[in-house]
Amino acid sequence: MTRSCGPSSPALALVLLAVLLGGVARAAEIVGGREAQPHSRPYMASLQLLPGRHFCGGTLIHPRFVLTAAHCLSNLNPLRVRVVLGAHSLQTSEPTKQRFRISRLFENSYDPKEKLNDVLLLQLDRPATLNAQVAVAQLPQQNQLLPHGTQCLAMGWGRLGTFEPLPQVLQELNVTVVTFLCRPQNVCTFVPRRSAGICFGDSGGPLICDGVIQGVDSFVIRGCATRQYPDFFARVSLYVDWIRSVLSNAGGEDGP
Ligand SMILES: *[C@@H]1O[C@H](CO)[C@@H](O)[C@H](O)[C@H]1NC(C)=O
Repeated sequence: MTRSCGPSSPALALVLLAVLLGGVARAAEIVGGREAQPHSRPYMASLQLLPGRHFCGGTLIHPRFVLTAAHCLSNLNPLRVRVVLGAHSLQTSEPTKQRFRISRLFENSYDPKEKLNDVLLLQLDRPATLNAQVAVAQLPQQNQLLPHGTQCLAMGWGRLGTFEPLPQVLQELNVTVVTFLCRPQNVCTFVPRRSAGICFGDSGGPLICDGVIQGVDSFVIRGCATRQYPDFFARVSLYVDWIRSVLSNAGGEDGP
């Protein structure tokens, strides 16, 4: 593991993580969704603890970088975390899977109390091999607008309900961007007329709108798919300049 000694610029804080588990309510899994067509979302990452236990999602945005939620690793030792790409079923062995360790973390003013800036970049220990099952997601423009009513896709291996288990295979769900009860720093989504949404274990995963990652699953209010509150995502378009600066500063630093 490449041990970074400090941030390479004031904006790029290296996060030192505590080893204790628990405390943070992890954002959820998909409720009321459907099985994704296998490997149709090739940017989708599963973050797992050593024995293969999924705990959060993530998105491959560069062969060496996965974007996830800051709260996903706030209580974990990153040395215990594995990043799995190319997965559909978490339980079965799939030849498409690629597994990585984390060599560095980059955080951007994460505020756990206010749940602001809930984004984290994971630098992988080596570049992913890009193919039909493993590919990078497209970033939005910095500050790109995302109008109310935009149709998007949420996805993940999160729970099938607040008290339900994790699913075997990747789930996805059509959702609509809404502004009620939301904040400018978030993208919020809602599924009208039925109980559906993200749930525990979906945290860190992508919200994809018109083929672009616009959100990182952050939190739900009072349980999953309550039909009352929207689901909250970190607004990725606010962080594109920061992401690009991390990628260019890290590029070439320790070879391919
Ligand atoms: C989900 O959204 C896609 C793209 O907008 C659409 O083609 C599809 O029919 C929708 N599926 C469901 C189940 O609503």
